[in-house]
Amino acid sequence: MSEKLDRRTFMGTALGAAASLGAAGAAAQAPGPMASDMLNRYVPTPSQGKKPQLFRAELDIRDCEVEGKIPSDLNGAFYRTGPDAQYPLAPGNIPFDGEGHVSMFTFANGRVDFKSRFVRNERYVAQDKAGKILFPMYRNPYVNDPSVKGLSRGTHNTHIIHHNGKLLALKEDSPPAAMDLRTLETLDPVYRFDGQLQSETFTAHPKIDSVTGNMIAFGYEAKGFATDDVNVFEYTPQGKKVWDAWVKVPYVGMLHDFAVTQNYVVLYVIPLAYDEAQIKRGGIHWSWYGGQPTYFGFFRRGGDGKDVRWIKGPERSATHVMGCFDDGKRIVVDVEMSASNPFPFMPMRDGSHWDPVKGASRMTRLSVDLSKKTPKEYGIEVLYQNLLGALPRIDDRYNTVPYSVGFLPCPDPDPKDPAKRPSSCYARMDIPTRTAQIYRGEEDVTLAEACFAPRSKTAPEGSGYLMGVASHGKENGRCDLVILDAQHIDQGPVATVKLPTKIVGQIHGWWVPEAELPPKKA
Ligand SMILES: [Fe+2]
Repeated sequence: MSEKLDRRTFMGTALGAAASLGAAGAAAQAPGPMASDMLNRYVPTPSQGKKPQLFRAELDIRDCEVEGKIPSDLNGAFYRTGPDAQYPLAPGNIPFDGEGHVSMFTFANGRVDFKSRFVRNERYVAQDKAGKILFPMYRNPYVNDPSVKGLSRGTHNTHIIHHNGKLLALKEDSPPAAMDLRTLETLDPVYRFDGQLQSETFTAHPKIDSVTGNMIAFGYEAKGFATDDVNVFEYTPQGKKVWDAWVKVPYVGMLHDFAVTQNYVVLYVIPLAYDEAQIKRGGIHWSWYGGQPTYFGFFRRGGDGKDVRWIKGPERSATHVMGCFDDGKRIVVDVEMSASNPFPFMPMRDGSHWDPVKGASRMTRLSVDLSKKTPKEYGIEVLYQNLLGALPRIDDRYNTVPYSVGFLPCPDPDPKDPAKRPSSCYARMDIPTRTAQIYRGEEDVTLAEACFAPRSKTAPEGSGYLMGVASHGKENGRCDLVILDAQHIDQGPVATVKLPTKIVGQIHGWWVPEAELPPKKA
């Protein structure tokens, strides 16, 4: 550990996805005194030191003010989704349970328009009608209002992708919601791929195959609440399912993300696990089971899943996969990894306090030697000791093949004044050389997860633009969209879209080039 990475810095970064909720997303929640203090310190929200406020503003901003010049080869749409509580969250609930609010920056010939809309899913519509929360606790169906029996609990607040002409808003406990790519109108609140989706759930982190463009995805708790079944499947870009497999996990833990190489599927089970006693007490779905093992599971792509092998490993958390590949000899998976629970608002099963040092994530390489018939262990190598952070991204054209460039929101790895609040930065990581280029955000700004837009379909890896929302803590969360040349992020923004207001917070975002968008409606 670098001496400069003190406890204060750890606390800043360990919030990971929570911090990325940004301006409005983390406002309406009650995470408990300790987590609340940390969220207020590191996340610019309108609730700082005050009663949480709701946001709920659906916006249209035409021809946004721009500082600098939008590059002429940046045409398409940047979509984001995040939780935006429709009504105040129930005491004890967590910020991940706000309703999905999708936003979109559309770029056309140097002009930028902004639009945001809630996902009109079954939960939103029912609560809107009732004028109150009907799903009061994160993934606990036993405390739901009886009126919502049979409705999908999906908030669709986690990730957003495009597939087969539709915008799919995702939440891992339910099927996607399909939306219109231009208007953000909800077209189908429970989208089951024309009846092909067998799983009750659908991950927030599908992968696009680097060669075929197929979408590989999975659902866990796939046969219903708290079941140990995982369904993995692959769809063509035209929406036809080409294979699926069923596997059983060693225990029911959060499978937030997974890895797909050209030949293998990897599932990684962490001890943020289903807690039945807590559910019966009216609490949330998960607790952190300290001391429990992880499992690295892998099986052949295109098979039935019966060849799955599980390798036991030490207690760790891994949330997001940056990149992965196999070369016939090894499977390699690069993930954000921490020694323990990365989320301050997820309960510790043993009642201990959340530990911000153990909860801090670093980019870590997991590997399995395929030459061994029955591998007994998997390798764990920290890629960057001095970079802490969560929500890594890559050039998404390299989802399933060897890659060399990654992007990561992180605190300043080399702060001039360590006593000051850590700056919010983006790192561009050159993985083969283990070097990084840093963009330092303005003081008192929090940078959300970044998204990469290639300069063209055939541009080299990492050649294009990196964009992310910057929330100004001193301006009540007012937001900008920062656009960087992805090869020279240390030179600062090539353009900044200046918004007049805060906007809905984000967990994940997605770039769609103009050529893949439907024609604009009159
Ligand atoms: Fe995620």
